[in-house]
Amino acid sequence: MTQPIHKAIVPAAGLGTRLLPATKSQPKEMLPVGRKPVVQYVVEELQAADLTQILIITGRRKRAIEDHFDPDPVLLSALEQAGNEAVLAELAYIQRKSRFFYTRQSSPKGLGHAIALGADFVDNEDCVVALGDSLIAGEDPAAPLRAMMQAHRELKAAAVVAVEQVPPDEAHRYGIASIQGSEPPPGEPVAMTDIIEKPPRGTAPSTLAVAARYVFSPAIFEALARTLPDRQGEIQLTDAIKLLIQMGQPVYAWLLRPDQRRYDVGNFESYFRTFIDFALADERYGYLARQYIKAIAYEL
Ligand code: G1P
Repeated sequence: MTQPIHKAIVPAAGLGTRLLPATKSQPKEMLPVGRKPVVQYVVEELQAADLTQILIITGRRKRAIEDHFDPDPVLLSALEQAGNEAVLAELAYIQRKSRFFYTRQSSPKGLGHAIALGADFVDNEDCVVALGDSLIAGEDPAAPLRAMMQAHRELKAAAVVAVEQVPPDEAHRYGIASIQGSEPPPGEPVAMTDIIEKPPRGTAPSTLAVAARYVFSPAIFEALARTLPDRQGEIQLTDAIKLLIQMGQPVYAWLLRPDQRRYDVGNFESYFRTFIDFALADERYGYLARQYIKAIAYEL
């Protein structure tokens, strides 16, 4: 029987150029969405899926990510002395049972190159990849990963890749998957027949966009090592997945269910949308946000 997966790689090395000046000196993964930075949602999702060893691929100007998951004894004892139990509870995420590992991608050579830096960490096991600028909303944000890991195990897959339907005029922004058949059932693995990274406008073979969560067997590292850089000199994870398919390895797409929405903070439009939805849904302050939006709605 295969071992349960317990390792995850979170690439968080991207420069965040589409979010300048907000990302001039802070990582985009640390932008707040409601009361937490984006990367905390990602880590909590991984922890809820029992992924206890987490490698974050960072880079220059990304040190705040390490600090965020590092216990701060001075802050903790100040809060304890003040008897500030409520705020202490907000910091409980640091104490959860997971180990963090960090390595840097020093030059922008692409997502595939960043993941390849995790090869020694993964050490010939299966692993999860969760992009650090994307979060999954829903009742149980870890549900897609749990189901994808189960499918990966049962099908002895080389890769199970989360996908979501996107409008045709947005397909050029994503990795786009082709599958067997036309309409994939949500929440079930479907064999992937091809994949292409950011197809030129109007040429996408489908509207199934890669949705920032992946489960891989170690074969992905072999494929990454054989993947050539694209025109921008970047090694794309999508191209390595394409190579897995060409090598005859079993690769599956897994369509998120309608209640499992993915948000990303890669540009201001999607960041604003993400912040607004999470602020409105906040269990503590959401009603204030909703009141405010209703009050100003007539001016919009
Ligand atoms: C990356 C992947 C792309 C995927 C997207 C999802 O692109 O390369 O295949 O669809 O994440 O967020 P990026 O957004 O980093 O350009």
